[in-house]
Amino acid sequence: MMQLPPELVRTFTLEGKTAVITGAGSGIGREVARVLALAGAKIVATDINTSGLEETCGAIRTTGGAVGSRKVDVASKTEMEALADAALAESGRLDVWVNCAGIPSLHSILETKEEIAQQTIAVNMLGTYWGCMAAGRIMRERNGGSIINISSAGGAKPVPNLAIYGMTKAAVNSLTWTAAKEFGPMGIRVNAVAPGWVETPAISALFRDASGAIDEAQREKVIAMISEQSPLGRVGKVSDIAFAVLYLASEAGSFVTGQVVRVNGGESM
Ligand SMILES: NC(=O)c1ccc[n+]([C@@H]2O[C@H](COP(=O)([O-])OP(=O)(O)OC[C@H]3O[C@@H](n4cnc5c(N)ncnc54)[C@H](O)[C@@H]3O)[C@@H](O)[C@H]2O)c1
Repeated sequence: MMQLPPELVRTFTLEGKTAVITGAGSGIGREVARVLALAGAKIVATDINTSGLEETCGAIRTTGGAVGSRKVDVASKTEMEALADAALAESGRLDVWVNCAGIPSLHSILETKEEIAQQTIAVNMLGTYWGCMAAGRIMRERNGGSIINISSAGGAKPVPNLAIYGMTKAAVNSLTWTAAKEFGPMGIRVNAVAPGWVETPAISALFRDASGAIDEAQREKVIAMISEQSPLGRVGKVSDIAFAVLYLASEAGSFVTGQVVRVNGGESM
């Protein structure tokens, strides 16, 4: 296979850098951690799901990557601050921070239980806020970095039964814009990636029937329907999102800040 020219390698490499990824125990976050590790970053993988984290670390070590892990609940400001401090203490630097932890929430406005609404806000919205704050605090002292928030196509369009989820992701977009303005003069870039439909465990879980099993026929029907509506005729893969994150994390994205990059196969334009 052809070797990439050194100029391209230098542009996309994360060699010598440290990247923190929340929600790295599954789905998109796991693939982001894997791809950033392939690009040479030392990974600090975090999640509330410790067995998922172990799997992620195993996958990274198999490819020769460097990874440490930590159990962190993104809804806790204290835990997020401790995470940033620990990442800095362990590797002496903090260059990339990806706020990926999130929970889906599929409820009509009239049927949403208060605790579901509060939890969705605490994880998706405040979790991203605490992440930007914790990363920004360290990166300010270290002359810069790149923060990437995982938003959603649902943050910019009305989807029935996704009101509370969409509301939190619209807030993530808004936070991204404001943080980019506040942090830009400190050399910190802040962007978001807004995925369309990507096949992950969180999406499969939406198709659980009363017995707890995943209704595969229904899942495939919905995926076929969504694929048909897409100009590219398919739903997303976790790698589609991870490569966008790599671009924003690396030198290749050095003039990009305050953007919500829509990686959705053209589902919305
Ligand atoms: N899959 C999609 O179609 C899709 C589309 C748009 C946006 N997104 C966003 O992408 C991100 C990842 O989603 P995914 O589909 O990979 O889901 P996933 O469930 O596979 O992964 C999410 C991870 O976040 C972790 N998490 C949940 N609550 C947490 C908390 N309080 N603290 C720390 N970790 C926590 C989970 O344990 C899990 O490992 C989410 O922010 C989601 O909203 C996903």
